[in-house]
Amino acid sequence: MTNPTIVAIDGHSSTGKSTVAKRLAKHLKFIYVDSGAMYRAVTLFALKKGCFDDNGLNEVSLINQLDDISIDFKFDNDTQKSQIMLNGENVEDSIRGMEVSQRVSAVAAIPEVREKLVALQREMGKKHSIIMDGRDIGSVVFPDADIKFFMTASAEERARRRYEELKAKGDATSYEEILENVKARDHMDSTRTHSPLVKTDDAILIDNTNLSQDEQFEKMLKMIK
Ligand code: DC
Repeated sequence: MTNPTIVAIDGHSSTGKSTVAKRLAKHLKFIYVDSGAMYRAVTLFALKKGCFDDNGLNEVSLINQLDDISIDFKFDNDTQKSQIMLNGENVEDSIRGMEVSQRVSAVAAIPEVREKLVALQREMGKKHSIIMDGRDIGSVVFPDADIKFFMTASAEERARRRYEELKAKGDATSYEEILENVKARDHMDSTRTHSPLVKTDDAILIDNTNLSQDEQFEKMLKMIK
């Protein structure tokens, strides 16, 4: 059996990493792994177990319960989408809500959480060819990945895309507020102590500010092949 192929995609938030990663995985018949969803699932677990209170996250309480967390991905044949399972329960939708989004950064900053999830992510790469997206995939999880991409776009363009997306859903958040949020998340992701977002020297920079989704897909596909 040949070794599985590992494609690592890291980059700033709202750069469309998961959209292109899913499309590439489907085309290449690789498994797509959304590592951000795993950090979100741990955050949902922490919420359910009351690890958050008025003072924020009780890290010790969460760390003590890490062994009770089991995370899995199941492929749903009907929707053709992979769904994240937390202790046997499909939590694909509940991890995308505001409650989790606002708290996930605190959870993702805990070294013990990262250690557990990184070990799980490495296991996934042993059995199948995968495309994994996140923040530390090329730098920490798979430093020897077959190919690494680092995706970015200007903060203004990312805010504009997010603004259009939210507006279509009837959300009235202003462009200025979204732009502030995009910049704040960039700062948090890049300056945290553990596994900050960095572009490794061997990662291919994809700046998609002026690329359509098709152009980006074709460009990355060519490079992988
Ligand atoms: O990609 P996302 O927005 O779903 O990620 C959710 C959070 O998890 C975000 O705060 C960044 C963090 N994350 C991380 O620290 N490492 C990863 N490999 C993936 C996500």
